[in-house]
Amino acid sequence: MQAVLWHEYGPPEGLRLGEAPLPIPKRGEIRIRVRATTVTSGDARMRGFRDPGIFWLPLRAFLGWRRPRHPILGMEFAGHVDALGEGVTEFVPGERVFGMALLGANAEYLTIPAAGAVLATPALLSDEEAAALPFGALAALVFLRDVARWQPGERVLIHGAAGAVGVHAVQLARHFGLHVTAVCSAAAMELVRGLGAHRVLDRATEDFTRGEERYDVILDTVGGTSFRRARRVLAPGGRHVFAAFGFRELRQMLWTALRGGPRVLCGFAGSTKADLHTLRGLVEAGALRPVIGHHMALEEIVAAHRLVDSGRKRGALVLRVGAIPAGFPPRA
Ligand SMILES: NC(=O)c1ccc[n+]([C@@H]2O[C@H](COP(=O)([O-])OP(=O)(O)OC[C@H]3O[C@@H](n4cnc5c(N)ncnc54)[C@H](OP(=O)(O)O)[C@@H]3O)[C@@H](O)[C@H]2O)c1
Repeated sequence: MQAVLWHEYGPPEGLRLGEAPLPIPKRGEIRIRVRATTVTSGDARMRGFRDPGIFWLPLRAFLGWRRPRHPILGMEFAGHVDALGEGVTEFVPGERVFGMALLGANAEYLTIPAAGAVLATPALLSDEEAAALPFGALAALVFLRDVARWQPGERVLIHGAAGAVGVHAVQLARHFGLHVTAVCSAAAMELVRGLGAHRVLDRATEDFTRGEERYDVILDTVGGTSFRRARRVLAPGGRHVFAAFGFRELRQMLWTALRGGPRVLCGFAGSTKADLHTLRGLVEAGALRPVIGHHMALEEIVAAHRLVDSGRKRGALVLRVGAIPAGFPPRA
């Protein structure tokens, strides 16, 4: 099969399309013919291994010390079930599915445990739309529900509202009855307003830390806010949640937990079938929709990673996985 091969940590140019063995589903696994996949900020981080700071050791232990142990990148996927491993009863061949793996989705075929984050695709979503949902929506759900422990009626500020996590955080917060202020660039304001934000601030000209509004939750999805400056606008029981964090935020999390008052919270998003189920239900109820900022083809993998690295990605960057012609130039 054709796949995006990842043999070294570094810039996008180190990725190439090539041949990989067709994966065979083990007991309890399904094989999926991938029709759409994505490049997420998580993929780009793993590829480049940039600024991993305190996570260097655990990440290298997981991904491979000198070079990537698993040679195929990619988390999100949508397509159809192509083969079943022994003991799988939940899916049938040909069934449309979508979901999220840790690695391996930027390929024509992918195997994943049937019990993992994979479900039948809602009829109203195309494969490209379904692939655009899991990474950002699962992270947004976990950060708002489990880390921030949102309450209806609370005031939330979402910084980085136009990214993959942000576009879902805005919609989820609005649906669950929070008052939503979103921060993004001027060019993304219309998009974010359309997702249901009550107020949208231009991050270049409006500094929310100097305003009169008070927030119960600040969700920083991309970095760039600081607790020291944001503390002034946090309500007494406020929580400043960081999706991207380092030593400073971890130290502040410990210190604010001991001292009381507004808290700093950091966390990791999971990818469970139960949460994907919740999100699929919200899509079917019309309360959540995927946002695709960029359509590309798997063959454009290098350009896709460059775009994610630029920080200009909106929502999801989806890659079509068609029939990739044999002999396609190995470097895009
Ligand atoms: N801890 C976890 O488990 C976990 C899980 C998922 C994601 N994350 C992290 O969450 C972060 C966001 O992920 P994502 O997938 O949403 O990213 P993304 O889709 O790549 O976000 C891109 C958006 O960020 C905005 N942006 C870029 N630079 C910015 C800046 N300096 N200040 C404010 N906004 C800026 C841009 O929007 P505008 O220019 O239009 O504002 C752009 O649309 C990443 O660092 C990722 O690693 C962590």
